[in-house]
Amino acid sequence: MPNTFLLYGANGYTGELITRYAVELGMKPILAGRNAIKVEELAKKHHLDYRVFSLDETSRLDAAMQEVDMVLHAAGPFSLTSRPMVEACLRNKKHYTDITGEISVFESMAALDDKAKASEVMIMPGVGFDVVPSDCLARHLKDRLPTATHLSLAFYGMGRISHGTQATMTMNIGRGGAIRKDGKLTPVAAAWKSREIDFGEVKKIGTTIPWGDVSTAYYSTGIPNIEVYTVIPKQNLKLLKASRYLGWLLKAKPVQEYLQKQIPAGGPSDEERAKGKTYLWGEASDLNGNRVESRMLTPEGYTLTALAALKIAQKILDGAFTPGFQTPARAYGADLVMEIDGVNRQDVA
Ligand SMILES: NC(=O)c1ccc[n+]([C@@H]2O[C@H](COP(=O)([O-])OP(=O)(O)OC[C@H]3O[C@@H](n4cnc5c(N)ncnc54)[C@H](OP(=O)(O)O)[C@@H]3O)[C@@H](O)[C@H]2O)c1
Repeated sequence: MPNTFLLYGANGYTGELITRYAVELGMKPILAGRNAIKVEELAKKHHLDYRVFSLDETSRLDAAMQEVDMVLHAAGPFSLTSRPMVEACLRNKKHYTDITGEISVFESMAALDDKAKASEVMIMPGVGFDVVPSDCLARHLKDRLPTATHLSLAFYGMGRISHGTQATMTMNIGRGGAIRKDGKLTPVAAAWKSREIDFGEVKKIGTTIPWGDVSTAYYSTGIPNIEVYTVIPKQNLKLLKASRYLGWLLKAKPVQEYLQKQIPAGGPSDEERAKGKTYLWGEASDLNGNRVESRMLTPEGYTLTALAALKIAQKILDGAFTPGFQTPARAYGADLVMEIDGVNRQDVA
């Protein structure tokens, strides 16, 4: 067995970060992407093998698959890039992971459950900040209150965001919000609901967003009603509320092209990441008035993304995987995130 993985999108901000952490951990991924100059430069810097192909070059994609056990896909927006990669994984019987946070991608991956089982491979989207810590928190709350019917999750403090995250968010602006209600994904207005969240060290007003857990926490916990909140700066909140009425305009191709061009490359510096941290909070309740609440503190979001993605990659390479569509906490349990340095969890109620 090759006992290595293909890191596609390696030259992106997050891909480069994953590469650096992988090398520090003694892992030797094969780097890949469509930009020959950048992928080669990165690979040479870290003394790693590399392959250059775009996602529609099926024969090169299939050839690269023969050299690895699994893929860590870091080239997003994943609603545009995940399909050819996951199909190549199924075709070649290789495990698939990615760092998406997009609800539509989680749902389309969940629909491939039978195919993944038939190929005896695991499909696990969302191995980054979205959704590893919140998915583990959701599972932890469910373990504490097995009768839970309602789940609220929140996070705060991601700091500066990267080019790809902004590109993905911009692509989805104007598409409104989403919650899970009675087990069904349910569209709601952008910034639909706000509430005060006690993150422990700070209290903040959180506002609902269509975060990945609206999809994934249902698979991890079976809880039928799910809302996810984050702290949105006042100016951005105004914009988000305006998007309820301007959605048609924000989705228009020329407007999207203009907005995408304004996004700066890169992401938080190493210093910013080292200083950053992220607060998570969750609450589960049932119809008899029982309620549990827990908090979590994690390293900065991109650092956590790299560490979580590599933790899961290592487990898969070691043979710890469950065929089919999986979420991080469903496959590895609520304590998966506690294996990452710098993560603390506290039960409040
Ligand atoms: N789950 C999480 O918590 C989490 C954390 C971090 C990032 N993300 C997501 O990960 C993605 C990457 O973010 P980033 O900031 O690293 O992005 P980035 O710096 O813009 O890099 C994007 C990478 O994807 C490649 N790419 C984009 N579209 C492609 C396509 N159609 N075909 C092939 N390659 C393509 C780019 O290649 P070129 O250089 O050739 O354009 C580049 O290597 C985003 O979707 C972001 O939302 C999620």
